[in-house]
Amino acid sequence: MSVGAPLPHDSAELHVTGRARYVDDIPCPAGTLHLAFGLSTEASAMIEEIDLSAVRQSPGVVAVLTAADMPFANDASPAPLPEPVLAEGEVHYIGQPMFLVVAESHRAARVAARKGRIRYAPRRPILTLDAALAANSRFEGGPVVWSRGEVEPALANATHLAEGTVEIGGQEHFYLEGQAALALPEDIGVTIRCSSQHPTEVQHKVAEALGLHMHDVRVEMRRMGGGFGGKESQGNHLAIACAVAARLTGRACKMRYDRDDDMVITGKRHDFRIHYRIGADAAGRLLGAEFIQLARCGWSPDLSLPVCDRAMLHADNAYFIPALRVESHRLRTNTQSNTAYRGFGGPQGMLGIERAIEHLAHVIGIEPAELRRRNFYDEAVPLPPTGGPSAPPSPPESISAKKKQTTHYGQEVEDFILHGLLADLEKSSDYTARKAEIAVWNSKNRTLKRGIALSPVKFGISFTLTHLNQAGALVHVYSDGSVLLNHGGTEMGQGLHRKVCQVAARVFGIDTEAVRITASDTAKVPNTSATAASSGADMNGMAVQAACETLRERLAGFLAAREGCAPGEVVFAGGRVAVPGRDWSFAEVALAAYGARVSLSSTGFYATPKISWDRVAGRGRPFYYFAYGAAVTEVVIDTLTGENRILRTDIVHDAGSSLNPALDIGQVEGAYVQGAGWLTTEELVWNAKGQLTTHAPSTYKIPACSDRPRVFNVRLWDAPNREETVFRSKAVGEPPFMLGISAFLALNAACAACGPAWPDLQAPATAEAVLAAVARARGAAA
Ligand code: MTE
Ligand code: MOS
Repeated sequence: MSVGAPLPHDSAELHVTGRARYVDDIPCPAGTLHLAFGLSTEASAMIEEIDLSAVRQSPGVVAVLTAADMPFANDASPAPLPEPVLAEGEVHYIGQPMFLVVAESHRAARVAARKGRIRYAPRRPILTLDAALAANSRFEGGPVVWSRGEVEPALANATHLAEGTVEIGGQEHFYLEGQAALALPEDIGVTIRCSSQHPTEVQHKVAEALGLHMHDVRVEMRRMGGGFGGKESQGNHLAIACAVAARLTGRACKMRYDRDDDMVITGKRHDFRIHYRIGADAAGRLLGAEFIQLARCGWSPDLSLPVCDRAMLHADNAYFIPALRVESHRLRTNTQSNTAYRGFGGPQGMLGIERAIEHLAHVIGIEPAELRRRNFYDEAVPLPPTGGPSAPPSPPESISAKKKQTTHYGQEVEDFILHGLLADLEKSSDYTARKAEIAVWNSKNRTLKRGIALSPVKFGISFTLTHLNQAGALVHVYSDGSVLLNHGGTEMGQGLHRKVCQVAARVFGIDTEAVRITASDTAKVPNTSATAASSGADMNGMAVQAACETLRERLAGFLAAREGCAPGEVVFAGGRVAVPGRDWSFAEVALAAYGARVSLSSTGFYATPKISWDRVAGRGRPFYYFAYGAAVTEVVIDTLTGENRILRTDIVHDAGSSLNPALDIGQVEGAYVQGAGWLTTEELVWNAKGQLTTHAPSTYKIPACSDRPRVFNVRLWDAPNREETVFRSKAVGEPPFMLGISAFLALNAACAACGPAWPDLQAPATAEAVLAAVARARGAAA
């Protein structure tokens, strides 16, 4: 019924008519003050003197604060190491907040914030990966290494070897709604309304900043105009600033970054450099591989360490590599503090292996899809039909016929489906025939060249920090039969509330219209995790299901006692509640239960089972399950200008038994385009001083509607999750982002059509990068 229906986003109409309220649309109380940060103009310096007299005298200014004025903690960090909200004695990047202006208007605050006179004692900034390596500027002391098997002997035995380096650019989140927060002072404490994926962390950080307990701070979050990971931690500064200023002035305080400030102040996707060595035997079976991953973390730890961990955990992607060594360098630089971004390091790790495989296929002269298939993990044994006997015993296997089933971190891959999925995609995309046709076309065209590539995704679902894998819910049934629910997740456009609503409607057997979800609220559901790691629906859906089932049992118990039947005989369906021989509307039953003094409110809780992870050893089962997908992308390049287009993309993506196929297909399409944007047009540039020069849409190019594939065929792979997730669905938020890798590989293939040499395309594949790769393919490079 409701679960599995392709219903539109619950706010779709509000979104398209402009009536959906974001933080900046909330009517403000009279006397609301507006905030702006004064920003560092040096990438690395001691602060010798801060002269804020001109700021204080600027029209409309009510107060100006520096670190010394922060009443309690001056810390916005999501990690154990502190990250000052306002700079303390030194600055670490251009754009770092140094002081806070509180003024009568947004404009007055911004104008005043430019008037600070700061005397710096500049140091030489560390801006690049090379500079950080040379200075040994890093987090965690030294590199982190996780490995399985002996890589050197494996590579020494290899018939075919490929070795290379790929530069992978960062990515600006470019959520449509920028960072924003509003603080309303209360008798004790404060209420915050903000645009955040992590209301509980905002609550925690604001409480520390005000010297209060968490029960004195309430955070409400209705919706974000996009988060993409950029609102896991990067909004903390605004909420803290608003709370401190509200406490100081007794007035409501609001802050929003305009687009330029947002891009200059906040962290982005980590740019990486990955050095790879990979070897295969004569039959094209991988023997060993090594990845050295260099990540530019920026100035503070933020979420960099778990991001880098996830990059390491995805260095295998879909392939069994007997000997695999991953070395990860978490480098500290004087740039924005890089943060979560859709895929959380997974995309960078996965691009490493996909690039290495593509390179190795070029060396061997084998069809890349064939090399991939030969090295996939083993396909999972099909599930027995539900209710049938348990799985048949697996066929007897000699010890020497090694199963290709365990990852380099020791997790068994129990649900691998890419053999079947890939075969299906190759067929529907007509991959082989089109590849041949493109080869013919390329032989006849000198200026334009086409390329086609296929890439798979296997993405681990769960937070690697095990304790984050928990969620709560609060469900009320009112006496008119309407249902109000809250859960620990946040809505950022992904459709989480709609899915969770469908789950509740299903449990009660009522229409989704009868169920309402209000703003995420730390006063309703406590101690929530960030809505991240794609696990929003998995975890909150389960918590809501548990709460609804508790209520349904109560209602059934009440009716059974009244009607003299067994609780098991009470049926909830079609908006009716039935016992043998009689039925009522759900609303009638709710009213009757209320009259009989039955509690109609319940909490629900869920903790993801089966997972455990030893991050020091790099061993365990960090993921409850894997989500899969594959894409075939065809592109064309202009070898004179480097310009390029995506001509056609075919995707098959695994969302388990989809809770809502319309939303899931939307997630797949959006994620693919965002992933392709990361690897093609989106380029971040810093100048020699360390200033981000691409800080507006005029200079930073995200994909436009016209950049989407001309032909875009997206299908869901419809098979239930093997694990017991909510109605056997799978997480879908992040995994399809990595399908965009196929666009990058297709561009490399188009460059490879220009000459015999390996084009070695670098990311992002801007027009310049494509031209350079064309030249290399023609043998122009050294
Ligand atoms: N989809 C939209 N429209 N907007 C977003 O900000 N964020 C992505 C993904 N899809 C995002 C999105 C990211 S980074 C994650 S982790 C998931 O949604 C989070 O939501 P979920 O766990 O409910 O899938
Ligand atoms: Mo998503 S990067 O886990 O917010």
